[in-house]
Amino acid sequence: MAPHGEGSDAAGDTTVVQAEQRPISNILLIIAMQTEAMPVVNKFQLEEDQHAAFPKGVPWVWYHGVYNDLNINLVWPGKDPILGVDSVGTVSASLLTYAAIQALQPDLIINAGTAGGFKAKGASIGDVYLASDVAFHDRRIPIPVFDLYGVGLRKAYSTPNLLKELNLKVGKLSTGDSLDMSPQDEATITANDAVVKDMEGAAVAYVADLLKVPTIFVKAVTDVVDGDKPTAEEFLQNLAAVTAALEQAVTQAIDFIKGKCLSEL
Ligand code: ADE
Repeated sequence: MAPHGEGSDAAGDTTVVQAEQRPISNILLIIAMQTEAMPVVNKFQLEEDQHAAFPKGVPWVWYHGVYNDLNINLVWPGKDPILGVDSVGTVSASLLTYAAIQALQPDLIINAGTAGGFKAKGASIGDVYLASDVAFHDRRIPIPVFDLYGVGLRKAYSTPNLLKELNLKVGKLSTGDSLDMSPQDEATITANDAVVKDMEGAAVAYVADLLKVPTIFVKAVTDVVDGDKPTAEEFLQNLAAVTAALEQAVTQAIDFIKGKCLSEL
């Protein structure tokens, strides 16, 4: 994903270079589920707060704190006001990403969460992936160019040094609004060459790209999509254990980021 201001005029390009050369000080973690978020909140001893810039009455939850001189913000979309379950999926993720960027002006976004993995592509339960690219698999618009808009392919911010330092796998991430996978979704996921699938990544990428905030995607595998077990059952069975692996990867990433500029990641 492009850093701040990329693709703009000469003055904009100068801003990009300056932003890339300044130490990162403000990180925004975007996490969809409470179970995924809490190990990270506890690790960094983040405190829950009301953000004045969030509209009154929204369920969005903001945690923040300082860790190793870094400002750490974590947002999750909260519980659906009527049904009381985590507000997963692309609609909540887009709204929250927009509001959180406006309110918090982060230097870098980390979208962390769980994902389904494809064993045919080498994924196993508990693996943690850093996504190289993100795209949608359930926005089918079979009209020239609209088809590409629907897929919405974007590159994650390139972090070769972070990747070298951390023991993460790398692969493409495909996003849709369903936990299961229809045959049509499967065809697009295959076309997207994805190794992991989630329900938020490409939506976060879309908004972050609009607002020119560099974004990386850390996804831990809870279920094997092309395996024998029913996805929902396997996801729920592994969720708690895999969130521990996710927290470790996020901590390692944040420890690596400390004192570095975007251009050093
Ligand atoms: N998150 C965890 N497992 C998933 C799956 N199979 N599909 C989409 N999102 C997921």
